[in-house]
Amino acid sequence: MCGVCTMSRLGVAILGATGMVGQIYVQMLSKHPWFEIRAVTGNSTVGKTLREAYRGRGHVPEKYADMEVLPSDPSKIDADLVFSCLPTKSAREVEPKFAAAGFPVVSDSSAHRYLPDVPLIIPEVNPEHLDLIDAQKRRRGWDGFIVTTPNCTTVGFATPLKPLADDFGLRYVNVVTMQAVSGAGYNGVPSMAILGNIIPYIEGEEAKVSEEPRKILGRLVDGEVQPMDIPIDATCMRVPTIVGHLESVQVELGRDASVEEVVDSLAGFIGLPQKLELPTAPRRPINVLTDEERPQPRLDADAGEVPGMVISVGRVRKGRKPGTVMFVTLSHNLIRGAAGGAILTAELLYALRRLD
Ligand SMILES: NC(=O)c1ccc[n+]([C@@H]2O[C@H](COP(=O)([O-])OP(=O)(O)OC[C@H]3O[C@@H](n4cnc5c(N)ncnc54)[C@H](OP(=O)(O)O)[C@@H]3O)[C@@H](O)[C@H]2O)c1
Repeated sequence: MCGVCTMSRLGVAILGATGMVGQIYVQMLSKHPWFEIRAVTGNSTVGKTLREAYRGRGHVPEKYADMEVLPSDPSKIDADLVFSCLPTKSAREVEPKFAAAGFPVVSDSSAHRYLPDVPLIIPEVNPEHLDLIDAQKRRRGWDGFIVTTPNCTTVGFATPLKPLADDFGLRYVNVVTMQAVSGAGYNGVPSMAILGNIIPYIEGEEAKVSEEPRKILGRLVDGEVQPMDIPIDATCMRVPTIVGHLESVQVELGRDASVEEVVDSLAGFIGLPQKLELPTAPRRPINVLTDEERPQPRLDADAGEVPGMVISVGRVRKGRKPGTVMFVTLSHNLIRGAAGGAILTAELLYALRRLD
């Protein structure tokens, strides 16, 4: 039995629990061995029960169905840890209040992702960036802290970039995304705009997707992240799938490599969550598929022994320019790209005793 399994269970609050991402938190945490939901918050549904507040996707797990939706006010919340999936504008205002009140906050929102003292974490890729927490607490005088997870689109290609950067070096990355409608939230894209259609633009997305991997793959030097010095170009499109962001990635490596070397690098990659055997960690974060017609959102978004936590990579092939490799990647935007990624980050914080 691992050391952390003997630690006591932590009470958690979910801010924005009634939305697309919030409902996934409730589902995933309803069976979690370390975390127990103690409070849920919302906006238009405050005062309702979770059963009454749920929209769209979810069946609320019976044991939480009668839990009341609270306002996102730290004085009304009793918890050891807070997950936030608030819209950006509310997150910008609310999350610092929780951190100042002493709560550790793990956030899927973009509100604080780009601040130099806020870690932006893919648990397998840059767990060492959690050291930024100490400087953040000192500088802001907070007893709590904020840790963020990346944009749901970033996770799917920044994770494979890590082993490629380590094994071959990176010179340039170009990504074209095909993002599911659930990525825009419950009220996201009008059905008349997206059904039978593709929209070749998502406001603000290309800047996020081009910048975030540079921070995530950056090195921590003297308490600051030095972003990885590579250009990344992105074209982001909304497509009429429900879940699972598919991305076509072209990478110029630091040296020429065969398809077999690239596949071995991706398939063999593991990180700290795997070494620590964290509950939400898949055995391997990247699953390389050899069938030319995979990955597909409908077939592969829920892949892995922890459904939705594996990133599926397929169509690995060389480009015509030496050193260029191309592949297609798929990640579950609500699980690995949001709630699951945040829960894994919290497990890492717990295992590293940063929640004590
Ligand atoms: N969808 C994805 O794939 C994805 C992936 C990664 C990150 N994210 C990020 O996660 C966050 C949530 O996304 P989502 O897709 O779950 O959105 P959503 O379906 O629109 O849900 C938004 C949630 O926030 C609550 N809320 C709205 N305004 C609030 C306020 N002022 N105070 C407190 N709660 C408020 C809503 O409560 P009521 O229902 O009570 O109104 C609802 O629970 C966003 O920041 C988004 O960028 C989303």
